[in-house]
Amino acid sequence: MTVLGLESSCDETAAAILRREVDGSVTVLADRVLGQNDAHAPFGGVVPEIAARAHAEAMDGLVSQALAEAGLAVADLDGIAATSGPGLIGGVMAALMTAKGLALGAGKPLIAVNHLEGHALSPRISEPLAFPYLLLLVSGGHTQLLIAEGVGVYHRLGSTMDDAAGEAFDKTAKVMGLGFPGGPALERCAQSGDATRFALPVPLKGKPGCDFSFAGLKTAARQIWDGLDAPSDQDRADLSACVQAAIARALSSRTRRALAMFVDRFPDASRPMALVVAGGVAANKAVRAALEDEAAAAGFRLVAPPMKWCTDNAAMIALVGLEKLARGQIDGLDAPARARWPLDGAAAKSDPAIGSGRKGPKA
Ligand code: KG4
Ligand code: ZN
Repeated sequence: MTVLGLESSCDETAAAILRREVDGSVTVLADRVLGQNDAHAPFGGVVPEIAARAHAEAMDGLVSQALAEAGLAVADLDGIAATSGPGLIGGVMAALMTAKGLALGAGKPLIAVNHLEGHALSPRISEPLAFPYLLLLVSGGHTQLLIAEGVGVYHRLGSTMDDAAGEAFDKTAKVMGLGFPGGPALERCAQSGDATRFALPVPLKGKPGCDFSFAGLKTAARQIWDGLDAPSDQDRADLSACVQAAIARALSSRTRRALAMFVDRFPDASRPMALVVAGGVAANKAVRAALEDEAAAAGFRLVAPPMKWCTDNAAMIALVGLEKLARGQIDGLDAPARARWPLDGAAAKSDPAIGSGRKGPKA
């Protein structure tokens, strides 16, 4: 089976084509991603209207390129998959409407994909990772701990109550004038900084569970910055190092709890058990080192998909499309674009990190 996947829920426009053999193994036939950093850089963050327009302009060209790279025509595809949420709604519509048009025009099934499910399955593009595994998803839009029990079966252990970890990096970097995207810039700046100079709050200190919160950290960092008299490069480096260390600590301490919960739930899972880290923040070396330590201490191995499939991409969307198509799970042309769409709907209802529906967390 061969599926085209489309992605446009944040600031990457992407198209990919994957093929699945009867034994479940997958081959990436084409994989195209177009970033928009230059368009958003003047504003220090993703501007939804600019993102939506850029996706709409780029999407059909990327589809043509992906088909040419794979040496296929639309008629050769078995299905068209697109992210249909969660994400910036104008952007989500670009991929979803393109997919609907192709599906209708070519008479192919449409598969509406939850972007988070794409991240959850992304390690399986590059290796045949067995279920169950624990996933920490840390990006600019999401911070969640999930157990992937099988295709379509995800159990959320915790998620952010306010900002995502990547947002905390980006917004702090913006305050310090480090440019966009802020995460990589802050990491570079932190290299020459003293991570012990400023005391930052420990988010959700003493609170049980696996939820996250980064808004307090972000505010504290801004107050420290605003309180500095004519801040120097060294001040900038020191605050970067402190913020990075605080985010790494917050992520690793919650992950420690989730690892213990995973072992309780699946005492017979095959060893070594896997902790998967996905999302752009997984590129951060301090975060990765902290997670390596937690994983090793709990007897897990840390699995990080190659960076191109760790950040937003369409290969992971095509993979979900293939898995769903193989199970006969296809969607009608009335499939909605959704700004919010929890992966574990039951947990989001019974145990919302904060509110639900429109009041729920962005992540
Ligand atoms: O997964 P991703 O490419 O896109 C989504 O947000 O969906 O993640 C982007 C996020 C941004 O917030 C970016 O600043 C952060 O990942 N990021 C980093 C690093 N590289 C990317 N954060 C900290 N350190 C990095 N090296
Ligand atoms: Zn993402």
